[in-house]
Amino acid sequence: MKIAILFDENEKLHSTSWSIPWEEYCQRNNISYQVVNPYLNNVIKKLLEFDIILWHYSNYSFKDMLMARNVLLTLEDRGKKVFPAFKDAWHFDDKLAETYLLESVDAPIPKSYYYYDLESVKTAIAQNSFSFPVVAKLRNGSGSHNVKLVKSPAELLSYSGKMFSTGLNSAPSLLYKASSNIVSAKNIKTFINRAKRIPEFLRSLANAKKFNRERGYVYLQEFIPNNGYDLKIVVVGDKLSYIGRNIRKGEFRASGGGDLFYDKDKVTKDVIDSAFKTSDDLGFQCMGYDYVVNAETGKGMIIEISYGFSHHALLAAKGYFDRDGNWHDEPLNVPYEIAGRMIG
Ligand SMILES: Nc1ncnc2c1ncn2[C@@H]1O[C@H](COP(=O)(O)OP(=O)(O)O)[C@@H](O)[C@H]1O
Ligand SMILES: [Mg+2]
Repeated sequence: MKIAILFDENEKLHSTSWSIPWEEYCQRNNISYQVVNPYLNNVIKKLLEFDIILWHYSNYSFKDMLMARNVLLTLEDRGKKVFPAFKDAWHFDDKLAETYLLESVDAPIPKSYYYYDLESVKTAIAQNSFSFPVVAKLRNGSGSHNVKLVKSPAELLSYSGKMFSTGLNSAPSLLYKASSNIVSAKNIKTFINRAKRIPEFLRSLANAKKFNRERGYVYLQEFIPNNGYDLKIVVVGDKLSYIGRNIRKGEFRASGGGDLFYDKDKVTKDVIDSAFKTSDDLGFQCMGYDYVVNAETGKGMIIEISYGFSHHALLAAKGYFDRDGNWHDEPLNVPYEIAGRMIG
């Protein structure tokens, strides 16, 4: 069994890259593997020599988003075992694609609306198709950068006018990220740890700046009233773990704010069941679900999905739930879990 882990050894790995634990896993278990640079010519011919190919590609990297799926899907098509596989990632970093997929299995999602011309938005407003406020999102991006609350028809028309003309820049805003992180740093240690990561954030940002403008659609979700937090729920096989994320002060968005909490009582049986069911229905090897819990009904709603996330933050939950909802005090190391499932 030949194993390839894909990254460019000349580029510094981001501290959250799963390549680091994947290499660790192989070394600890005396499994031989090779690091292969995925960006070179003839990469396919090279990778066809392997049986298992692992690549934690990132939505912050323009070149990854340009070609990572092409490389992995070609290999999967040729019978290789790859991570992430087609089912995990054909929709990665595309909230419109995710919505179609989740709708197809009746997953618990907020009412969603997508329009591909301005006339349809105007008609929907005239017909009172949704109530305000409504959440408008670009299809791509993370850390809440491209998600906003639209409070009135006039605001929606102005947003839509932009989306059907010049479009919006989908690159993350440094100012928003930095201010969210500084505000949420509760002690000097957290603050210093975050400051240390500024250089790698700037590197990600330089990459992300290459992203195209988004235009030609308007994507809206019903606003779910919540109790001040959302949950990142991760399902791998028969295990489920979580990260609690408080929303930023004075607004409704949690993701990217950096204010995490771990209170497993917040992970209700309803959330556990629907996350396992969605992963089963859709054949995911590994999936991170963002859940907002409706404060009025108590029901967990999936607002987006993503195969990748911070495995460090998940380790800090110090355990996982099984399918019966029983908690096990053993941290869920997702990259190890994936390597274990693929390599054995
Ligand atoms: N429909 C919604 N109702 C209420 N809050 C939402 C909704 N969608 C997103 N949010 C909030 O906004 C944040 C960012 O939205 P999300 O779709 O996860 O985008 P991103 O890809 O930037 O993480 C979420 O973490 C959540 O706190
Ligand atoms: Mg999110």
